[in-house]
Amino acid sequence: MSTSLPPLPLRDVHQRPLRNLRLSVTDRCNLRCQYCMPEDEYAWLPRHDILHFEEIERLVDVFLFLGVDKVRLTGGEPLLRRDVTELVARLASRLGIRDLAMTTNGVLLRPAAPDLKRAGLHRLTVSLDTLQADRFERLSRSAEFHRVLDGLEAAAEYFPGFKIDTVAIRGVNDDEVIALLDRARALGAELRFIEYMDVGGATHWSQSQVVSRAELLGMIAAHYGAVAPVDRVDAAPADRFRLAHGQTFGIIASTTTPFCADCDRSRLTADGLWYLCLYAARGTDLRGPLRGGASADALATLIRGVWQARTDRGAETRQVVRADAPFIPLSALKRDPHLEMHTRGG
Ligand code: GTP
Ligand code: 5AD
Ligand code: SF4
Repeated sequence: MSTSLPPLPLRDVHQRPLRNLRLSVTDRCNLRCQYCMPEDEYAWLPRHDILHFEEIERLVDVFLFLGVDKVRLTGGEPLLRRDVTELVARLASRLGIRDLAMTTNGVLLRPAAPDLKRAGLHRLTVSLDTLQADRFERLSRSAEFHRVLDGLEAAAEYFPGFKIDTVAIRGVNDDEVIALLDRARALGAELRFIEYMDVGGATHWSQSQVVSRAELLGMIAAHYGAVAPVDRVDAAPADRFRLAHGQTFGIIASTTTPFCADCDRSRLTADGLWYLCLYAARGTDLRGPLRGGASADALATLIRGVWQARTDRGAETRQVVRADAPFIPLSALKRDPHLEMHTRGG
């Protein structure tokens, strides 16, 4: 690729670096979490549009060339993608990837964990919103809770220090904050509470169900005593804290305290559309140029131009204009599944 280039990392209009790529490998999911996929029917991405591994690799190489060094495989549920461990192995061999991670719901994790480790995955995050089987069934419309528990044990075995993501929702799981922290501690995992966001797809969202960072800290301090802030190591979304007994945990306060000013992320959908912000209305089609024979240089030029013009601060904007109604109406989601969180990969 050509040599007279701006210095890396690339900066957008707000001086935010392009560092972090979230790679959605499938829009399908085997759960139907209330905060993400509450509807009965979904429009799926056409199969022939889904990028092959070789195509994903070609695009990832361009992103690495442009300064990305963190890649996270997401979905939908990434373990539903056939041979995903093969993709992990291919990506893990890239020297430019400093951090290769995956976010999974854990259902298919037990059999996959040793292969993921062997393939070279660095880090794992498992979503877990409840420790109660009946509640899990209501929340995710699945009877596979025992498999998630098994998956968590596998995560502890193969990816010690793994992360757990919990979306805190009032009246749904906010009575399990302490139990979840205790379980994370027993698993040697770092739990992060995520404020319920009104992203595309969260059609049941309401402001009153958001359990704020302040409330979470209040509940946690009332139980464990002092909660001390821990310095951030990264542009990661979580604020981290330490309890008196040494356990650390995080809070991702995307709704009440957005981290847009530090946002270094963008997301590639399974069909090759590149979205900058979780809240962006439109993405950039990379599949078209890729399949049309565009060179790595041409793709790099396209990506560079889009990032350098980036202005969006979606969660902050949303905080100002928020109405107590879904961000994207169901009719729009049905017309364009790219507006869904499960297509964008969070
Ligand atoms: P590390 O901190 O590097 O481990 O990864 P991560 O926290 O980015 O990954 P993870 O998939 O665990 O993300 C946690 C959650 O944070 C997501 O599921 C979303 O709910 C939320 N989140 C992730 N990216 C964004 C973003 O760009 N904007 C906002 N507002 N929220 C995000
Ligand atoms: N609010 C907050 N986080 C969400 N996720 C999906 N939908 C939402 C939402 N409405 C995130 C959660 C979940 C991951 C797969 O996506 O972190 O664990
Ligand atoms: Fe980044 Fe958009 Fe999320 Fe803000 S809302 S942190 S700009 S992706």
